[in-house]
Amino acid sequence: MIQSFNKINKVKGEISFSGDKSISHRALLISSLAKGKSRIKNLSDSDDVKATIKCLQDLGIEIASNSEEVIVNGRGFKGYQKPSNLLNAGNSGTTARLLAGILSAQNFESVISGESSLSSRPMNRIIKPLSLMGGIIKSKDGKLPLYIYPSDKLNSITYEMPIASAQVKSAILLAGLHLDSESCVIESRQTRNHTETFLNLNVIKEEGKINSSVSRKNYPHAKDYFIPGDVSSAMYFMVLTLVVEKSELLIKDVSLNPTRIEGLSLLKKMGGNIQIEFTGESNKELFGNVLVKSSNLSNVRIDPKIIPLIIDEIPILSVAGVFADGAFEIKDAGELRVKESDRIKSLISNFRLLGLKVEEFTDGFRISGEVKKTVKPFDSYDDHRVAMPFAILSCLLEDGGKVEEFESVSKSNPDFLEQLKSVSY
Ligand code: S3P
Repeated sequence: MIQSFNKINKVKGEISFSGDKSISHRALLISSLAKGKSRIKNLSDSDDVKATIKCLQDLGIEIASNSEEVIVNGRGFKGYQKPSNLLNAGNSGTTARLLAGILSAQNFESVISGESSLSSRPMNRIIKPLSLMGGIIKSKDGKLPLYIYPSDKLNSITYEMPIASAQVKSAILLAGLHLDSESCVIESRQTRNHTETFLNLNVIKEEGKINSSVSRKNYPHAKDYFIPGDVSSAMYFMVLTLVVEKSELLIKDVSLNPTRIEGLSLLKKMGGNIQIEFTGESNKELFGNVLVKSSNLSNVRIDPKIIPLIIDEIPILSVAGVFADGAFEIKDAGELRVKESDRIKSLISNFRLLGLKVEEFTDGFRISGEVKKTVKPFDSYDDHRVAMPFAILSCLLEDGGKVEEFESVSKSNPDFLEQLKSVSY
């Protein structure tokens, strides 16, 4: 589906988002492990989170919902039932990788499959550490489907992460949750920490490393959760508000987890008028309100250390960069190449349509120059985090713009178009 966007003259109002996608996956998975009923308010309505729900139902977990909340009836330690079919993770990397960690520790055989984009993404990054733990996983050349077999030789490990990935870290931690002895994941770069917050893990920072330890002592109990709004989804609207003149937007009840708001801090460093108010906490996940006002932005140097913390926001930050003084440059972000699309390629080919000067690096890109008119639609490459930034960019162009395969937005935010309409004039 091609979606057209007209130039927006003003952004105004108040907006809130359905629950953060990463936090929602974890609330569901952890509730499914705990014995008894957990109640989750403001669960993400994204396709990815629906894939997690479906997989858990196939594993025998009862999940019901009403207008207020989703109720997960967890089955307790090693309580999943052997699925009668393949578990379909859809296009959700978080579903496939985190579930693989849990399934490595179950007493039955299971198969995780996925749809097209997920089936081309790397899985050796979880197969390797889970195999070191004694898990038995076979794959198709390091890609889905994953065949996971029961193992009677599971052992704890200390694993130093070769890449910065919250999904890999979480897969190990969720497997380690089933062992009496302690496993430890060592990161040299901080990644999002929702698994650690929800499992109440012991996390020690020393000598520039972050050590997260887990064992059966951390096995969860049924709980009530409120999932703060998705800050990655909010970021598109923040950038739109900053760039459009005379605009002001209040974003309510959004996640303010410190490992998720580096993108917001970067926009502030670029000159963004953004005020943050912390209003609450649910199971150690912070949330609050963010007030954004139109601002003149300038590009700044992006510290490689923060790349894992802004990895999902780089596409929209690069759009902010196009409308800011100076050149936008991102390096040390090779992980962008193994997301739903090769995001370095997807972004730069769209920026080239605007006549911008674009340099490609193996681990990033640089954009400078003036935006020119384009008659060609932008290509989303069936990737939600390419579709949404180019929708926002289209709203900033004198003649508007079009985005192809726009339906991919439902992977993280099916409400995007409606929300955009509700705050733009
Ligand atoms: C996620 C972690 C990130 C991120 C993805 C969600 C998570 O991936 O890009 O959208 O929920 O753990 P990696 O951990 O592979 O970098």
